[in-house]
Amino acid sequence: MKQLSASTRLVTLLPLVVLLSCQANAGHDDDGRPSSPCSPTDRAALLGFKSGIATDTTGILATWSGADCCGAWDGVSCDAATGRVVALQLEAPPPKERHYMAGTISQSLGNLEFMETLVIRDMGKIGGAIPAAALSRLTRLKQLYLEDNLLVGPIPGSLAKLRSLQFLSLAGNRLEGHLPPELGAVSGLQQINVARNRLAGAVPQSYKNLSKLAYIDMSNNFLSGPIPGFIGQFKNLALLDLSNNSFSGDIPASLCTLRSLTDLSLSHNKLTGQIPSKLGSLRSLSSLAIADNKLVGSIPSLLGLQKLWNLNLSRNLLSGPLPAVGLSSLVSMDLSHNRLTGGIDDFLRSLSLSIPVRATTVPQNKKNLLIVLLPQKLEHLDLSGNRVAGALPEFAGGGLKWLDVSSNAIGGQIPSTVSKLQDLERLDVSRNRVRGVIPASMAGLARLQWLDLSSNEIVGRIPENFTRMGSIRHGSFRRNKLCGQIPQARPFNLFPAAAYAHNLCLCGKPLPPCRKIL
Ligand SMILES: *[C@@H]1O[C@H](CO)[C@@H](O)[C@H](O)[C@H]1NC(C)=O
Ligand SMILES: *[C@@H]1O[C@H](CO)[C@@H](O)[C@H](O)[C@H]1NC(C)=O
Ligand SMILES: *[C@@H]1O[C@H](CO)[C@@H](O)[C@H](O)[C@H]1NC(C)=O
Ligand SMILES: *[C@@H]1O[C@H](CO)[C@@H](O)[C@H](O)[C@H]1NC(C)=O
Repeated sequence: MKQLSASTRLVTLLPLVVLLSCQANAGHDDDGRPSSPCSPTDRAALLGFKSGIATDTTGILATWSGADCCGAWDGVSCDAATGRVVALQLEAPPPKERHYMAGTISQSLGNLEFMETLVIRDMGKIGGAIPAAALSRLTRLKQLYLEDNLLVGPIPGSLAKLRSLQFLSLAGNRLEGHLPPELGAVSGLQQINVARNRLAGAVPQSYKNLSKLAYIDMSNNFLSGPIPGFIGQFKNLALLDLSNNSFSGDIPASLCTLRSLTDLSLSHNKLTGQIPSKLGSLRSLSSLAIADNKLVGSIPSLLGLQKLWNLNLSRNLLSGPLPAVGLSSLVSMDLSHNRLTGGIDDFLRSLSLSIPVRATTVPQNKKNLLIVLLPQKLEHLDLSGNRVAGALPEFAGGGLKWLDVSSNAIGGQIPSTVSKLQDLERLDVSRNRVRGVIPASMAGLARLQWLDLSSNEIVGRIPENFTRMGSIRHGSFRRNKLCGQIPQARPFNLFPAAAYAHNLCLCGKPLPPCRKIL
């Protein structure tokens, strides 16, 4: 669900580099002067790299022959005037999983002293350590991407010698050890991505200096200690992903001052304490995920987050009422597995564009209610495993595809207008206190694939016209007070018997035949 990654930003830089190499190709630069041939030093350095690669299925290195490394050598870009290599960009062509280079990164790359961009990405089988001594000589380097290879060992502290470095990604390797404190001296860093490695320990205090950072991805490691409060001073920060680590302590309140932050992910850590009360002031935020921690207290007002499309606070210890959300931008909201209270009807109404009841559309006894019209954008709503009460309201429509309110204390009946949620693919109201009958109108939910009504107090029969539901693949009616014949058509007569067990008197396949047709 991540929107804007730094890799997409890099891609926008590529055409410039390609242009440089085309000029070199033509043998003349823009002014018609002959361009310099490739520098023999750089050519030797590149051939040194080539000799460190034992296997290349990408076809890139096969083009590395002949004298002019600035001409037809794939991935190599030169300064046309000097013939010096300024960029080396090696990326496996699609399908990525079929192409790779196997070998190690040669120390000879350290001789490409004019290089500003080095990208070795998706090569899968380039292993060994990061060649620290060589790379630390590349003092003009602005972009270093060694992503999705098989590099091992620590992140060398000597990378701090790259004082021009702005973009650093070592994501998707098998790097271990600590984050090197020395990197705190590279004060021009705008991006640091060390995701998907095996790094441990705390974020060094020296990183306080990295105030130009716009993108921090340290997800999927074994990092621990507190989330440093100084991150709140990185005014340009757009993305902070620390998910799937062992960070502990409180969420620093200073993070709430990051006005450029669009993406905040702290899921799957060991964070405690409350959600900072001013979180609603992160006005640029589009995705907020702090699932799977040990947060307590209530959910603060999120009404200021007018750009939020993804909210995931599931699997914490949050209590208090369901929050007033009222965000028209929301696409997905997961508040499941907490201790939240409140009424489902009030909550859905707070999300909806409520419209007044017209006498003709709802039964007489419900005339004083409002009908809930959910925003078309909202597709995914999960409130399961809380302490939510109330009853499902009457619906006028909405774009919901996934509605899970299972394992709560919801009463009332299933409204017949649930069939107005025409996009529903999954409906789970299991383990609640729902009474009344199953509305036959539900047969009109043409996209419904998953229906779970189990463990409620539902009476009557399973409507015969449910056999018209074209998409249904999973159904459970277990543990209710249902009676009568199960619809005798696929897939209802093929569901396991357990899907119908513990009712009053259901019969017909997959259960024993009815004694008389009920
Ligand atoms: C932080 O930056 C300042 C000024 O750029 C510099 O003097 C200082 O040494 C840096 N601190 C660290 C820990 O690198
Ligand atoms: C969490 O990160 C570790 C270390 O990279 C990885 O092995 C594990 O698969 C990740 N877990 C999830 C759920 O992504
Ligand atoms: C919310 O986060 C949890 C834990 O990371 C994840 O399992 C779940 O799929 C997420 N929910 C949604 C709707 O993406
Ligand atoms: C299912 O049957 C009920 C009652 O016979 C009817 O009111 C409803 O419109 C039917 N729904 C569909 C989709 O056929």
